[in-house]
Amino acid sequence: MASSTAGGHCFLLALLLLSSAAYGQLSEDFYAKNCSKLGTIVKEEVSRALSRPRGGDPRMGASLLRLFFHDCLPQGCDASVLLDMNADVTKGRIIDSSEKQADPNRNSLRGFEVIDRIKGEVEKACRGVVSCADILALATRAAVVELKGPTWPLLLGRRDSTTANVTAANTALPGPNSNLDELIEKFQNKGFNARDLVALSGAHTIGRAQCQFAEQNQQARCLLNGTPGPLDVQTPEVFDNSYYGNLPERGLLHSDRVLTSREDVKVFVEEYKSNQTTFFRDFAIAMERMSRLGVLTGTNGQIRTDCRRVLNN
Ligand code: HEM
Ligand SMILES: *[C@@H]1O[C@H](CO)[C@@H](O)[C@H](O)[C@H]1NC(C)=O
Ligand SMILES: *[C@@H]1O[C@H](CO)[C@@H](O)[C@H](O)[C@H]1NC(C)=O
Ligand SMILES: *[C@@H]1O[C@H](CO)[C@@H](O)[C@H](O)[C@H]1NC(C)=O
Repeated sequence: MASSTAGGHCFLLALLLLSSAAYGQLSEDFYAKNCSKLGTIVKEEVSRALSRPRGGDPRMGASLLRLFFHDCLPQGCDASVLLDMNADVTKGRIIDSSEKQADPNRNSLRGFEVIDRIKGEVEKACRGVVSCADILALATRAAVVELKGPTWPLLLGRRDSTTANVTAANTALPGPNSNLDELIEKFQNKGFNARDLVALSGAHTIGRAQCQFAEQNQQARCLLNGTPGPLDVQTPEVFDNSYYGNLPERGLLHSDRVLTSREDVKVFVEEYKSNQTTFFRDFAIAMERMSRLGVLTGTNGQIRTDCRRVLNN
């Protein structure tokens, strides 16, 4: 596998070179001058957060990946998902308009404290320089690599939103009971085709889901101790292609199982099941594209100090 992965990296490099001109303000070395330690800090903190001997938990890698997906899909990779927007007072009632309160996120998203910790360390090293949006993008990639998954080129220079949009989160994100047409439509709305949908769903090779989201006949996997069940029943702490081998019968979510329900989509499941290199390559390309969705650059947005709060000047 090593040699074919190298081929994949060359391809990704070519892709990066081609795309960097078109996305003007994002660049690979954006923080090179003002925060050269950024990469090292993020890797160290992610590594700690995922390491059992160091008090961490490998599942946190999955939680960070999902947090990034839920940030990017609704209004772009702008760290809007991290904001606590519970200060809206309307008709004497406090309305929480955080994306955290959206149905796909409430009592479900994890990893906020890890981002807070990384941001704290980054602020100590270089105050007011690095956005929360870039920290989340970097932490996600570091987490996937830590769990033995692929890497991808990451251009930096995202800025943080001053708004959150709970409606966008409710609208853009798919649910566990979505059927195939709904999944295809929600991904197509963000420029991803059915092949991308299948590649990105491979994220469910790591992490866990609560019983309430699991297909009826798979509930034995999560009822034990009331712990959330593994999305990939074989190796939930390793980013590999075994997720695809479990479909459809041992897919945990309905939305996983429907990926084999139509022949023209099932072919991608079969392809990724039989060749992990192809899965890694396509997942990396799709993640790189996801990481550029709706980014704020230049003078748009801001650099937050606290990832949970809009900075008021
Ligand atoms: C295709 C549509 C998708 C649906 C319907 C879906 C739905 C879900 C649900 C319901 C959970 C369990 C949440 C909980 O128990 O609280 C979950 C977990 C997860 N999802 Fe997805 N997801 C989808 C696609 C994706 C994508 C594209 C990614 C990332 C690229 C992703 C990454 C994850 C990860 C890593 C977990 C485990 C999180 C953890 O252990 O904390 N999912 N997903
Ligand atoms: C780096 O610091 C210089 C000097 O303060 C500033 O002009 C520049 O905008 C900063 N660059 C970034 C990416 O923060
Ligand atoms: C919030 O998202 C909804 C659904 O995508 C969109 O129609 C609306 O314009 C957004 N609101 C703002 C203030 O951007
Ligand atoms: C797997 O796919 C890669 C490219 O995606 C290809 O180079 C390699 O030959 C394939 N391996 C097998 C065993 O088919």
